[in-house]
Amino acid sequence: MTDKFVAAIDQGTTSSRCIIFNQDGAIVAVDQREHRQIFPKPGWVEHDATEIWSKVQAVVAGALAKAGLRADQLSALGITNQRETTVLWDRATGKPVHNAIVWQDTRTSALCTELGGSDGQDRFRDATGLPLASYFSGPKAAWLLDNVPGLRTRAERGEIAFGTIDSWLIWNLTGGTDGGVHVTDVTNAGRTMLMNLETLQWDGQILSAMNVPETMLPEIRSSAEVYGTAVGQLAGVPVASALGDQQAAIFGQACYDTGTAKNTYGTGSFLLLNTGNRPVPSKSGLLTTMGYQIGGEAPVYCLEGSIAITGALVQWLRDQLGMISSADEIEPLAASVDDNGGAYVVPAFSGLFAPYWRSDARGVITGLTRYVTKAHLARAVLEATSWQTREVVDAMYQDSGVQITTLKVDGGMTKNNLLMQHQADVLDVPVVRPKVSETTCLGAAYAAGLATGVWNDLDELKAHWQRDAEWQPRMESGVREREYRNWRRAVERSFGWLE
Ligand code: G3P
Repeated sequence: MTDKFVAAIDQGTTSSRCIIFNQDGAIVAVDQREHRQIFPKPGWVEHDATEIWSKVQAVVAGALAKAGLRADQLSALGITNQRETTVLWDRATGKPVHNAIVWQDTRTSALCTELGGSDGQDRFRDATGLPLASYFSGPKAAWLLDNVPGLRTRAERGEIAFGTIDSWLIWNLTGGTDGGVHVTDVTNAGRTMLMNLETLQWDGQILSAMNVPETMLPEIRSSAEVYGTAVGQLAGVPVASALGDQQAAIFGQACYDTGTAKNTYGTGSFLLLNTGNRPVPSKSGLLTTMGYQIGGEAPVYCLEGSIAITGALVQWLRDQLGMISSADEIEPLAASVDDNGGAYVVPAFSGLFAPYWRSDARGVITGLTRYVTKAHLARAVLEATSWQTREVVDAMYQDSGVQITTLKVDGGMTKNNLLMQHQADVLDVPVVRPKVSETTCLGAAYAAGLATGVWNDLDELKAHWQRDAEWQPRMESGVREREYRNWRRAVERSFGWLE
């Protein structure tokens, strides 16, 4: 083992994690804590940003203790985060002015329709690569400015800061009210719907259309550079990277060549394809988004298929329906039957994201007969993840002409063999998982290590990637096509529900 260490904080939708890596890119220690999910109304999802900050501090302490390291032995700290989730805080007190509005929250659906006006959902697509949808941060910030009494006036006076979770953490890590730096990186800024994809700066026209004052926004920087130095428990450690979690995962999966792709299975699933140094517009319901930017180098762009609910459907089965008592129980339950018994579950809990972008969609279960048991439903729950991925892969092909020949996967659900086999079956391509499946943290650590000289270049990082497991497709094509048709019929039934 070598003696340089890099820590990464992954602030995700349901938990915060700190992982310390050595110079070989191997994990030295991990600590993780969940935070509260707040559901004030149907379709609304909030987090307490103060709770998130204290959980982050706790996991940093936990990881250092497990590794037996002191902060001054860390060469750098990288940040990766759930994207789009929006925090507004008071610059003078450091206190959030409202709970954070989470990316899954649909409260801005009507506002997005209004913003689209006669141009519709694609009004800002050329500039931002994104369709108008409740998913993105800009409309969430606008909603807060309109709904928290007095907030707009305070924001216009420069008293309020806007941030996605990366900005919130970096500001706190570097001193908060005592000199904290207010920055974000291109990958996170690109998910606000306020950044222009070509200039990598805030877009004045969109800011005025959404009525968001520029004075509250952070400075946009690259994904790998020293933004500042941490104070407190990490005193002296350079804070040297920030990437949205899906972009960190593509970086950790070493997808540095144009045409390489990965799919991460977390709360939702996000398939990103590296399209090189030019943004590729989508006609098939994908997002054109940032991949990463290393210091002053040319930025790398991606096409992204975002699926809102995959792992969260398993959590719903556990927490809301009580059908299983731990997420691990789903695999043996689903494996106790041979098929889905005719049932399909479409988890349109936040509307449907790629490739549909339908905020009027709501979850449905179809194909029910008295034959169907909870084991069939468990199977249908897992299959919902692989079918949603299949739809995104098809859209990727239509947009880019790139036929994925192997799918690199990562994230919590990849330990589920039944799901990974079904994924290979429905895509009809092999699915491969790397040895370090914590690619999100790894990507943030890599970027921070590149910015601080722990690693020299991308080739050095690529050499770390090692295969751990592989699933070969083995479903008959007739079965695959029939099942896909059934899945799409079920999806159509999820459209058109009113609040
Ligand atoms: O865009 C949302 C995404 O970044 C959330 O990722 O892993 O927290 O579900 P995760």
